[in-house]
Amino acid sequence: MSTSPAKVAVLISGRGSNMQALAGEQGEAYRIVLVASDRPEAAGLTWAREHGLESFALSPKGIGKAAYEEALDSALRDAGAEWIALAGYMRLLSDAFVARWRGRIINIHPSLLPKYKGLDTHARAIAAGDAAGGCSVHVVTEELDGGEVLGRAEVPILPGETPDSLAARVLVEEHRLYPATLKAFVRS
Ligand code: GRF
Repeated sequence: MSTSPAKVAVLISGRGSNMQALAGEQGEAYRIVLVASDRPEAAGLTWAREHGLESFALSPKGIGKAAYEEALDSALRDAGAEWIALAGYMRLLSDAFVARWRGRIINIHPSLLPKYKGLDTHARAIAAGDAAGGCSVHVVTEELDGGEVLGRAEVPILPGETPDSLAARVLVEEHRLYPATLKAFVRS
């Protein structure tokens, strides 16, 4: 059994609240070796830099997806990353990239998978009259939000619920579920 913490890279596109939750739970199980973003202006990058995390920012605009992913892959390898946690990373990874990191990329998705893959998950759960929404952590495969589900957290849908009010309560659960699931995943 390995005693050194697993080396994790976190990929973000925006505010990075899940990245912050992951950062707060670093320890014996894992360390964050890189925070990477496809949006150089992502607010989460500023937080990462201010908190001493290595960062990498590159937009695919102008260089194309293949060159962007090559550069991202190099940055991940240079940082020594063994695992990748997507945390509000809004860009689809190519099949080739997923294949290179097969079984080593996980994502958090704001629905109770396999329900509501893709966008607008909370609005869709409310419109369907579901009793609960929630979030799931899953392994990333070539199928969008389709890999093995590693953990889920349910949040009841209340009378008068809006997508925003549900999203806010689900986010609290995301911040608990993601670090706990990542720790179990890198140990397994
Ligand atoms: C979260 O709701 C996550 O489930 C989804 O995108 C959102 C990212 O939020 N994939 P943050 O950037 O982690 O705050």
